[in-house]
Amino acid sequence: MKLKLLVTAGDGIGPEVTREAVAVMQAATGIGGHTLEITEKRIGGIAITTDGTPLPEETLKAALDSDAVLLGAVGGNEFNSLPPDKRPEAGLLAIRAALGGFANLRPAFAFKELAVNSPLRPEIVDGADVLFVRELLGGLYFGQPRAWDKAKGEAWNTMRYTRDEVARVARIAFQLAQKRRKKLCSVDKANVLEVSQLWRAVVIEVAAGFPDVELEHQYVDAMAIHLMNRPKDFDVVLTENLFGDILSDESGVITGSLGMLPSATIGGKVNLYEPIHGSAPDIAGKGLANPLGAILTGALVLRHTAGLEVEAVAIEKAVRKVLEQGFRTPDLARQNPQGLPVLKTAEMGAKVRETVQQLLK
Ligand code: NAD
Ligand code: IPM
Ligand code: MN
Repeated sequence: MKLKLLVTAGDGIGPEVTREAVAVMQAATGIGGHTLEITEKRIGGIAITTDGTPLPEETLKAALDSDAVLLGAVGGNEFNSLPPDKRPEAGLLAIRAALGGFANLRPAFAFKELAVNSPLRPEIVDGADVLFVRELLGGLYFGQPRAWDKAKGEAWNTMRYTRDEVARVARIAFQLAQKRRKKLCSVDKANVLEVSQLWRAVVIEVAAGFPDVELEHQYVDAMAIHLMNRPKDFDVVLTENLFGDILSDESGVITGSLGMLPSATIGGKVNLYEPIHGSAPDIAGKGLANPLGAILTGALVLRHTAGLEVEAVAIEKAVRKVLEQGFRTPDLARQNPQGLPVLKTAEMGAKVRETVQQLLK
């Protein structure tokens, strides 16, 4: 099997964590004689600085010409005063739109070894396994009209969804629930917003085709607390773009760190894979970043695009093993009574890589 992978590492810790993810993927695929053909292109702040645009034509072309795209993170404090359409983040939104994937899968799996790292009690998080299905191409992020009228002192964005946009992502969420614990929680704000009333009505229609999946609805404000109080009650959580952005970051509390969370975006021309965290300017360039979210994202590439389930599982098992052995990056070592070894980004990457090799030998 040959996989053409475009790597767009981006800014801040993006290059630091994607480097480790790629090395682990190479170790996992090399053993079975598979080939990863890697191309690297710029996106985000680095592309603004070098090419004058956050998504250069060349990057987009290479993305559309790949089997999958692995993206690190974009954004930097030096761009914070730019308007949304000129910022690094605009490059990310543009590549998402161009690739067309509308279902962003964000699994939040609580490794037992990290339960002590969560501010929640271990018995609350241990065993939690939630899959967020975040709609990625609609809602406030893309709705028109949008503007900031500085003269008037007024700004507006539009949360807009069509029936089809809701139905297509809901179908994917129900299909995934069928392969898991057959529970789906749809999150909205239907007590206030028409767009959420449409969302809920369409989800109920789609649910009719999946009678084996138990459906519940929650308002997003209540969901924010249910997730912290009883994360184990949730299986698949389906929600719109902004709510999914917020709730999936919140799930970093369940996993013990934002740096543990991977994602895969499916349903378009080319799947896009990204850890859910950002460029973390506060720790960038210091070797402090946790690469495990990016490494687990690499496992999703092998599973969803390459069909290499054995290799994907090996990466996930290797992550568990190094955690069992007590290795931590600084974000995972806040509670470190046993004085566990605290590793730099590249050292953690190397541990996972070696373990993958042992597992697949
Ligand atoms: P962030 O996710 O970059 O960081 C939030 C906090 O989590 C920080 O304290 C950071 O140090 C920590 N953190 C994040 N990832 C980590 C990791 N792998 N290991 C250890 N600690 C980690 O969010 P932010 O600070 O709100 O945003 C910074 C920039 O990143 C902004 O420009 C934002 O727009 C951008 N951003 C990009 C993406 C993306 O490219 N997918 C996602 C989120 C934010
Ligand atoms: C994420 C990020 C992005 C989003 C930003 C950087 C555009 O927060 O991937 O979660 O809001 O989708
Ligand atoms: Mn986010």
